[in-house]
Amino acid sequence: PTITKTFHLLTDDDLTPAQATALIDFAAQLKADHYAGKPQHHYLAGKTLAMIFQKPSTRTRVAFEAGMAQLGGHALYLSTNDLQLGRGETIADTARVLSRYVNAIMARVYKHQDIVELAAYATVPVINGLSDLAHPTQGLADMLTVKEHLGGWAGRTLAYLGCANNMAHSLVLSGALVGLNVRIACPPHCQPDPAIIARAQAIAQQTGATITVLSDPWQAVQGVDIVYTDVWVSMGQSLSQEALDALQAYQVTEEIMAAAGPGAIFMHCLPMYRGQEATAEVADGSRSVIFDQAENRLHLHKALLVELLSDAGPGILK
Ligand code: CP
Ligand code: NVA
Repeated sequence: PTITKTFHLLTDDDLTPAQATALIDFAAQLKADHYAGKPQHHYLAGKTLAMIFQKPSTRTRVAFEAGMAQLGGHALYLSTNDLQLGRGETIADTARVLSRYVNAIMARVYKHQDIVELAAYATVPVINGLSDLAHPTQGLADMLTVKEHLGGWAGRTLAYLGCANNMAHSLVLSGALVGLNVRIACPPHCQPDPAIIARAQAIAQQTGATITVLSDPWQAVQGVDIVYTDVWVSMGQSLSQEALDALQAYQVTEEIMAAAGPGAIFMHCLPMYRGQEATAEVADGSRSVIFDQAENRLHLHKALLVELLSDAGPGILK
């Protein structure tokens, strides 16, 4: 078969700033249509999404699977233990075989290189459902949540406190794309990938945002609009006791929220460990928007799938 250039979403910045904001706007439109009871079943009738999971998931799996169902398509949950991948079949062969059956592949992997390889051999779009490097569908969906709560991105600032992991990477990239300022505050053991920061800063120059990496959590939250945190230990990661001890200073508490300012909202991609990266008081308090974030994964995934697999959307990725 002729191999045409296929769009893959491996990191947030596979989208241009214009594409990212248009995709988020389209997600908001699909969300409004969904609540208005507008039929959406015809968009992806007959389309299939393969979902490969090397590690557990609640939101990513269910939001993609329910999203495909709402759009009239079908999603297949494929755990690596059940696939021949678990017995040593190569990623390259898996990608080529799945491409003959399905219209797109979503994968959650340990090593980012695995999803790069999957995309290199797939002839259908590949979506990163979290790797050790990035979590782009979460980063982009979070920008929708920010816009809903704060009215927009320009002139607003998000402070991320904790381990500068895949989530922090997606927040700097997605933030830069939409023009949201992002400050990362992390201990020396948990620094972000300098190449990702450089990429985010280059995008931010075009969109008018600033991306900074600090160490002091109190300095980072001064006057911000959003305080964001994530688990200290990501799936597949292990941290030394010294690193865990250093992370204690980055816990999001009522005092940290007070330092951020009266209007600041609290965000977390979930799952969360109350009493570690954030207190239960903050997580379940009136400024927390964590369940809006979880919901917006559904709408963002739907927008992405409609754009990738049909001509019914605004044509953002063309
Ligand atoms: N936020 C997120 O990706 O959650 P899951 O691990 O449950 O998919
Ligand atoms: N950083 C976390 C996010 C989970 C959605 C992890 O990789 O485990």
